[in-house]
Amino acid sequence: MDIRFRIRRYNPEDEAKARPYWQEYELKEVQPTDRVLELLHRIKWEQDGTLTFRRSCSAGICGSDAMRINGVNRLACKLLIRDVGSSVQVEPILGLPVLKDLVVDMEPFFAHYRRVMPYLVNEEAVPEDGRERLQTPAARSVYDDSTNCILCAACTTACPSFWANGEYYGPAAIVQAHRFLFDDRDRAEEERLAVLGEGDGVWRCRTVFNCTSACPRNIEVTRAIGEVKMAIRKGSPEGVIRPFSHEKH
Ligand code: SF4
Ligand code: F3S
Ligand code: FES
Repeated sequence: MDIRFRIRRYNPEDEAKARPYWQEYELKEVQPTDRVLELLHRIKWEQDGTLTFRRSCSAGICGSDAMRINGVNRLACKLLIRDVGSSVQVEPILGLPVLKDLVVDMEPFFAHYRRVMPYLVNEEAVPEDGRERLQTPAARSVYDDSTNCILCAACTTACPSFWANGEYYGPAAIVQAHRFLFDDRDRAEEERLAVLGEGDGVWRCRTVFNCTSACPRNIEVTRAIGEVKMAIRKGSPEGVIRPFSHEKH
């Protein structure tokens, strides 16, 4: 099949291209099972070496190739052309500064990520037998879903609250906070809840659900945000989630 691509281009280093514009490309002999990322490679390698985009693993793991494809945030490496159609429009994800073509500046996104303390805090002495801090499968299950996040930013850049106010920490940062907040080995719940309850924290979420639809890992993002809101209201994550409630069948 033949596919027509329409790609948002921008190059601040070239005066003639320093305003965003659309460029079209035609690709022949495309297989329905080709992935959008492979086709972007074909354009770059066969037609236009200046086309710029991020990618690394090509396997849905690294989170580096989130793009807006036909108006929806997707990972280009996971999307088959048969699921898109013969006309493909590709733009950078929204709400972050564009550096060049499809590449955005992820720094504001990672600043929000760092803000929520995305690491385990526990200053208590390790058990005397030198073993790791043990955790039951039931206790592990309450934050299992949020461990699947690959920080691709598809959720945050699909969120109208984030578009309206880029200071909002956004769903990705909250999912990362959820992962540690509900970990019973963590001891920073008070500090973490205070950060999440700040003006730019979870209360900017208006339960729009775009984040959940955008997530390529099928994380129940809005649900995680709701659980964080409940923990803030209670003043503690304890008892907010029943063990195993996140199991998917
Ligand atoms: Fe990407 Fe999903 Fe993580 Fe958001 S929650 S950053 S969409 S993997
Ligand atoms: Fe935004 Fe998701 Fe909340 S789209 S408003 S973070 S439910
Ligand atoms: Fe790594 Fe797509 S290239 S997730």
